[in-house]
Amino acid sequence: MTKHFGPLVALDNVSIRFEPGSLHAILGENGAGKSTLVKCMMGYYRPDAGDIFVSGEKHAINNPRHAHQLGLGMVYQHFTLVPSMTVAENLILGEAQLPPIIPWEAERERIEEFQRTMPFKLDLDRPVASLAAGEKQKLEILKQLFLGRRVLILDEPTTVLTPAEADQILGLMRGMAGNQQLTVILITHKLREVLDFAGDVTVLRAGRRVGGGAAKDLASEELVRMMIGAGKIARAATRVETPTNAAYLDLRDLTVENDNGLMAVRGVSLQVRAGEIVGVAGVSGNGQRELVEALAGQRQPASGEMFVRGAVYSPRRGEMRQRKVFLLPEEPLRNACVGVMSVAENLAFRNFDEPRNTRYRWLISRRAIRGQALDLIDRYGIKAQGAEARLETLSGGNVQRTVLARELCEEVSVLVAQNPCSGLDFAAVAEIRSQLMDARNRGAAVLLISEDLDELLELADRIVVMFEGKFVYETPRDQADVQTIGRYMASPT
Ligand SMILES: Nc1ncnc2c1ncn2[C@@H]1O[C@H](COP(=O)(O)OP(=O)(O)OP(=O)(O)O)[C@@H](O)[C@H]1O
Ligand SMILES: [Mg+2]
Repeated sequence: MTKHFGPLVALDNVSIRFEPGSLHAILGENGAGKSTLVKCMMGYYRPDAGDIFVSGEKHAINNPRHAHQLGLGMVYQHFTLVPSMTVAENLILGEAQLPPIIPWEAERERIEEFQRTMPFKLDLDRPVASLAAGEKQKLEILKQLFLGRRVLILDEPTTVLTPAEADQILGLMRGMAGNQQLTVILITHKLREVLDFAGDVTVLRAGRRVGGGAAKDLASEELVRMMIGAGKIARAATRVETPTNAAYLDLRDLTVENDNGLMAVRGVSLQVRAGEIVGVAGVSGNGQRELVEALAGQRQPASGEMFVRGAVYSPRRGEMRQRKVFLLPEEPLRNACVGVMSVAENLAFRNFDEPRNTRYRWLISRRAIRGQALDLIDRYGIKAQGAEARLETLSGGNVQRTVLARELCEEVSVLVAQNPCSGLDFAAVAEIRSQLMDARNRGAAVLLISEDLDELLELADRIVVMFEGKFVYETPRDQADVQTIGRYMASPT
């Protein structure tokens, strides 16, 4: 299969065979062509050359519906659910053919019956908008299984899941593949997942197939070398001693409601000092999203106060800029970017109206914005077809990098980051983590909300565990114990 986007060769003559009942991983760096490959299979893109055979027969797959008829299903890197509808409604609306009147009661029984066979449960009546990322991901997978797909393509399904949830889902997938119920194609950056769960591996680099085979025959060093090529070494984050400074971020008795008016954040207090990273551990859906939204000014706290460098903080664009508060929210394409605007425009969201990007104070200078973009694209290694490319045409990892470039490029007082490395390949993960550490070392107060415990143990000076909207446990980094933290994440009592 070959696919060009303008002058860019996203896929270059790639051939892969997926054996029935296998769990086949596709591994590759950000921008390697993984999503493009599977989107071609799903009829979402038309390949420029190449053929697709399903059960030995050649098919020109013209659109996703056609792929569905052939039993191919896909869970995309970005969510595709209808936010205002409930879990049950989303499951049913995935059906190719719906009767004019939906027999809800019968359908509901069918869903409940189906859910009983699944290892995880979701509340069928909750609107999707109120689900946390991890829960949405589970629903995406449930939906495909509910629709009876035979080949399931998962595009980085575990980036938003905790390690335990990820193991659970991948274990389930492997089990279903093992007894020939399903063939699973797993796109991932995570070597551990490949080594623990996949039977076969294909590695892509810059649109080419550079290696692969049976997972048990491949050592992780070999896979790394195939993915990133020889000679590139990731920089490790180095922590320098910082003095015990004043609190730059101070939350006092903060209470935040969720969309349903229920208390999502229940009276939390926390101080983050300059030159300190405080990590918030917890399973998604325990109030993290609402906490970040309150700090971002996207949600009004019900009570309590927020202070930045000693003064009351009420997040608005001007104030955030002036007080140097920066944010890296999760699902950046949805929460922090505009997909149909260019990379340059997205990079300028914070400062397009500042003197350096304007002429005569009120005319926006395209040239300055473009110059700034080219500089950031270069410094942060963003892979894009130039500064004018629409942001939504970038690979998932490169969207993430774009937001990081925008939020980290200036002097920072307070940085709030939520799952900043989800979806990034390990070279990028190492890079981003060093950037966060550098920001801390330069004196920023960093609040890092992450579902990745390894990330917190590596970066945080102090870890608090968030459970059902409260901070239920706190430990300094040198006394942090994974078992204990894990126990509080699951249930503090
Ligand atoms: N619609 C599009 N228009 C232009 N270029 C595109 C489009 N879709 C993808 N590309 C480019 O094709 C290349 C491969 O992208 P792809 O999304 O397949 O990468 P990926 O391996 O899935 O990366 P990631 O791990 O970051 O998700 C990238 O350079 C990307 O910018
Ligand atoms: Mg991708």
